[in-house]
Amino acid sequence: MEKQLQHIVFEKVGEVCRNQNQEAYVIGGFVRDILLQRQSNDIDIVTLGSGIDFAQKVALLLDPKIKVSVFKNFGTAMFRYRDWEVEFVGARKESYQRDSRKPIVEDGTLEDDQKRRDFTINALAINLHPDHFGELVDPFNGIQDLHDKIIRTPLNPDTTYSDDPLRMLRAIRFANQLGFTIEDQSLIAIERNKERIAIISYERIIEELNKIMMCPKPSIGFKLLQTTGLLKIVFPELDAMTGVDEVKGHKHKDNFLHTLQVLDNICLTTDNLWLRWSALLHDIAKPRTKKYIESQGWTFHGHEFIGSKMIPAIFRAMKLPLNEKMKYVQKMVSLHMRPIVLSQEIVTDSAVRRLLYDAGDDIDDLLVLCDADITSKNPDKVARYLENYQLVRLKLKEVEEKDKLRNWQPPVSGEEIMQVFGITPCRQVGIIKDAIRDAILDGEIENNYSSAYQLMLEKGEKLGLNPVNKG
Ligand code: CTP
Repeated sequence: MEKQLQHIVFEKVGEVCRNQNQEAYVIGGFVRDILLQRQSNDIDIVTLGSGIDFAQKVALLLDPKIKVSVFKNFGTAMFRYRDWEVEFVGARKESYQRDSRKPIVEDGTLEDDQKRRDFTINALAINLHPDHFGELVDPFNGIQDLHDKIIRTPLNPDTTYSDDPLRMLRAIRFANQLGFTIEDQSLIAIERNKERIAIISYERIIEELNKIMMCPKPSIGFKLLQTTGLLKIVFPELDAMTGVDEVKGHKHKDNFLHTLQVLDNICLTTDNLWLRWSALLHDIAKPRTKKYIESQGWTFHGHEFIGSKMIPAIFRAMKLPLNEKMKYVQKMVSLHMRPIVLSQEIVTDSAVRRLLYDAGDDIDDLLVLCDADITSKNPDKVARYLENYQLVRLKLKEVEEKDKLRNWQPPVSGEEIMQVFGITPCRQVGIIKDAIRDAILDGEIENNYSSAYQLMLEKGEKLGLNPVNKG
């Protein structure tokens, strides 16, 4: 620990402490992380006095060119120095009103400040005054909890969670990220206070959910979210996947547990957050499409299609990006059953070409998702399914090399169709375009300009269109 404290920022903080005869401590996540030997670039300093004045004095000593950002309303200030983000605050007491996260803030002692924090492991402080440099202040036994791997609130958990309900999600996120256990009373308090999460914005909620998504085994976090009842509030569509129905002795599998298994599987292969989201959402429409059919048993017909349609509303509600990342997830969800079909049937080139056309550059990710979707407990089955997908990959590669269909566009564009027939955008343009694309993908005509042009003229004629004479 000595080594991590030999830091130029702490040295300058110490100098200001001495010059001003003022106390200052490094506190929170930075202390937790050095004790856990995790990398951390965020430094939080708490001082007994004005955090803003203190920040300005430290910045001046480090480099007069540093720009200090001051948040007067919060009584905080921060600056960046090299790779570090350093935040300063005066020690404070906070009390909260029930319907708001906005605290009434008063100056306080270091212990007041530690009390208002979320967890004992995040309330550890290290003195930076040169006379007491490196002394740990740990009024709530945070060190013991770090050692025992326990998430515990410094105060009664009802108070701590009610003060800032986001902490309920943070408890679960830290448990997942650090491999810690949430202490019993705290877990019960989360269940009791879950409705309070409603006052938190989705921008903050999604930050925690994404941190859970980026854990090596996110199922741990999602199971905790589910059992505490938080999931039903923050992500009802996922919560709806829990449980098993039975008709005439026939059960389907628990789609929530299956989904989490797929998510954990994919986390072994990829750090791509959006591919992870695709795994989480791939079966999201199963509850809506679930049907028991006498002759077939449990079916989920069209769940991939309905699922991809559900995604914009989910992304909008959860403040996830509505750009190409959402489109990518939609594409993954809508295509996730296609390679299975290719692996089961005698595969025609045409079906392979269509998948290449529809998936484009994301074809490799799609197969990663398909591999992850194999959750059978029977190792022979798993091996056989994985092998099938390897065969699908070979087939895709073969056709890809032959036809160069990745990111392919049909040789005659909609623009050209409109020009040739002298028409403006209308249904006919789409019909002709689709006919050309389908004929090439199905191998009915050659993949070249003149064959496509010829087909365009034929289709146009059938639709009653005549080419306009040029010139
Ligand atoms: N904190 C809190 N309640 C919150 C958020 C933060 O009490 N809802 C306190 C904790 O003491 C925390 C510190 O503020 O350690 C800094 O918060 P933040 O930077 O958000 O989290 P870290 O604990 O540093 O962890 P991470 O960076 O992984 O989020």
